[in-house]
Amino acid sequence: AKVAVLLSGRGSNMAALLYAAKAADCPFRIALVSGDKPQAPGLLLAEAEGVPVLRLSAKELGREAFFGQLDDKLREAGADYIALAGFMRILPADFVGKWTNRILNIHPSLLPKYKGLDTHQKALDAGDRVAGCSVHIVTPELDDGPILAQTEVAVLPDDSAETLAARVLIAEHQLYPRALAGYVSRELDPSWIEQKVGELAL
Ligand code: GRF
Repeated sequence: AKVAVLLSGRGSNMAALLYAAKAADCPFRIALVSGDKPQAPGLLLAEAEGVPVLRLSAKELGREAFFGQLDDKLREAGADYIALAGFMRILPADFVGKWTNRILNIHPSLLPKYKGLDTHQKALDAGDRVAGCSVHIVTPELDDGPILAQTEVAVLPDDSAETLAARVLIAEHQLYPRALAGYVSRELDPSWIEQKVGELAL
């Protein structure tokens, strides 16, 4: 399967997907890396790794033209799936509708807890002993689609949002490639998706 990765920042999850895709038995490959910010550091890494990169500025184009062009280019690149990896924009419902069940996201919390930003501080403020990360199917509601897989991560007594984020990120890098591989291997088997997905057997 061909996967397009969308990012806005440093791109460490993109890198995890990219390096996983180098394994001979990996069922996906990265066909394109793009995002909303032409200067995102993650794009530089993708380029250095020889992956096709598309630089679009959502700021310059405006929301409608940006998502329109993005959709065109993803189709041109032959993408079967989109993996959001630190893509900091809410997708328009009509864009999601064109890629139903074909967009995945990684989120740094144990969803449905702590949608949106500042997940680690929220977990610390709540006194949680366990944090983690989730991979889910993207629906028009933010961080809300069916959960494909999660990894729990222990919270340490002296954790700050930064130290916890760093530990969760290690788990993210393990989880995302495995969840994506498991998902694309099922080739959108509708009964499996309907069953609300549950935990992937990773
Ligand atoms: C990750 O924590 C991811 O879960 C969240 O944004 C962050 C992106 O980090 N959606 P990176 O750009 O992949 O390093």
